Formats: sequence, C-alpha cells, structure tokens
Amino acid sequence: MIAPEDDIDRIMAVMEAAFPPEFGEAWNRRQLIDAMIVGNCRYGLIGPEGDEPVREGDEVAGFFLARSVLDEEELLLFAIHPSFRRRGLGGILLRRFIETARNRGMHRLFLEMRRGNPAAGLYAAHGFRPVGIRPGYYRTTDGVRLDAISQELVLV
Ligand SMILES: CC(C)(COP(=O)(O)OP(=O)(O)OC[C@H]1O[C@@H](n2cnc3c(N)ncnc32)[C@H](O)[C@@H]1OP(=O)(O)O)[C@@H](O)C(=O)NCCC(=O)NCCS
Repeated sequence: MIAPEDDIDRIMAVMEAAFPPEFGEAWNRRQLIDAMIVGNCRYGLIGPEGDEPVREGDEVAGFFLARSVLDEEELLLFAIHPSFRRRGLGGILLRRFIETARNRGMHRLFLEMRRGNPAAGLYAAHGFRPVGIRPGYYRTTDGVRLDAISQELVLV
C-alpha cells in the first residue's frame, strides 16, 4: 500500500515528534516509503477526536504501520503525537489495528518493543503477551543496550 504524499507528510510529522530520539526508533521518510513499496504494509491514521482523518489536510494525532505475511501481521510502528497523549487515542488506534487485522483474516499479531517502554501497559490491556526477548537488541545514542521484548496476540 503506497500512501499519498500528504499522508507520508502527516505520518512523518507525528514520527518526528513522537519517538524519543535517544532510542533511534523513528524511521526516516525513505524507510517509510520503501516499506510501503516493497513490504506488504498498510497504515492507519487517527485524528484528535479519535476519528479517521480522511481528507487531505485533516489534522493527524497518530498512526500505525503494519506488515503482513500470510495470516500474520507485525505492528512495525505505532505512535501518538505528544500533544494528544493520555486521552485514550493510543487505545482506540490499537483496537482499530487489531479489529482491522481480524477482518483481514489475520490469526496472529506481533510487535517488538524496547524493555521499559510505557506502551507495555497498553499492549497488555489489549491482550498482547510477551513471547520472547532479544537481549541488547536496541542501542541508545549513549551506547546503552536495551532488550527487545517480542509480544504476540493470537486472534480467535
Ligand atoms: C505509546 C503511545 C502510543 C500511547 O499513546 P496514548 O494516546 O497516550 O495512549 P492512551 O491514552 O490510549 O493510553 C492508554 C493506557 O496506556 C498506558 N500508558 C500510555 N502511555 C503511558 C505512559 N507514558 N506511562 C504510563 N502508562 C502509559 C496507561 O495505562 C494508559 O491509560 P490511562 O491514561 O488511563 O492511565 C504513545 O505514548 C507514544 O506514541 N509513544 C512513543 C512511541 C512509542 O513508543 N510507540 C510504541 C512503540 S513499541
């Protein structure tokens, strides 16, 4: 799924504001476009009222990017702009991701997060369970190594 330029712009604006720079988790524009071209990727946007901003120029508060292979889908990126946090938008967007995956026939969802990310509580509340650890997978800009925790949600 290749996004219109306007969506790429709006995703990048959230990306650049949302991810703490020390963990190097944000993607650049090229990586985002490449994933959409070569990977079997889809994305979703959320507006400040929990709506789906469908018109060009509508304000975007957050997004997700996911890639599927057969009946499995990985949540690659998931973020809410700092100005719109702790109002439930992350929960709405995560639920939307899960429900749309289910409707597309997915049976297993994955994601990977760095140990200590506060998003862990949100993922757990939506049924994700830790299934593996990659020790020292992430490296901060100060050279500190952090584990990646793989999480899974089996859809029935
Ligand atoms: C993770 C993120 C998407 C959450 O977005 P959000 O809109 O604030 O999430 P919600 O308002 O729906 O929060 C739902 C619950 O998650 C938990 N939660 C979310 N952010 C939290 C934080 N910073 N600290 C502690 N708990 C948090 C809380 O339980 C919260 O419920 P509450 O507000 O009633 O206490 C957002 O903080 C973000 O974009 N972070 C940076 C990007 C990132 O790390 N993405 C995940 C990569 S794996």
